[in-house]
Amino acid sequence: MHDQDKIIKANYRLLISEQEIKKRTVEIATEVSKIYQTSIPILIGVLNGGFIFLADLIRYITIDCEIDFLRISSYGNEKKSSGHVKILKPLSADIKGRQVMVVEDIVDSGLSVQFIMKMLQAFGPASLRLTTFLRKKSCMQTDVHFDFVGFDIDDKYVVGYGLDEEQKKRNLRAVYVVEPV
Ligand code: IMP
Ligand code: MG
Repeated sequence: MHDQDKIIKANYRLLISEQEIKKRTVEIATEVSKIYQTSIPILIGVLNGGFIFLADLIRYITIDCEIDFLRISSYGNEKKSSGHVKILKPLSADIKGRQVMVVEDIVDSGLSVQFIMKMLQAFGPASLRLTTFLRKKSCMQTDVHFDFVGFDIDDKYVVGYGLDEEQKKRNLRAVYVVEPV
């Protein structure tokens, strides 16, 4: 029995395994390495959820890159996006004239990432791309362009691999759907 099995509840259904996550992450990292062959990009992880995907992604990237993080509030402890976004941790890096790629954990309504892309565009990066680990296609209310998507998933609440349920379960190595109890 894997040590983490004890924190997996009965109402969690495995959606994406560790092996599938690794395979897809390597594929994306390979593409990212090709795109930025002649520059040193800054990859911007969106906290808290994006930290695991960013950490895994950069370890399969074969070119030089920098990282930074930003944090916004969107859901609080609720499961629905309010659209009212607050910056909790601004960027540290100066991204003017730089090749920038935002690395998100999950895009649901798209409201959070739309806010982030607009805000970063205003700093004048040379290019601005977006990668998300998960995308809930059915509830995209916004017109956001994605450069890379790990997996498109149904409109269900998921946990693990950085994604939380009331701040917990981020440390699960796979992604699970939370079924209603
Ligand atoms: P959006 O503004 O509706 O796109 O919400 C995006 C943010 O909500 C993500 O960055 C997550 O922090 C959170 N979120 C949305 N769906 C889920 C989910 O299924 N599990 C965990 N967090 C989620
Ligand atoms: Mg996020």
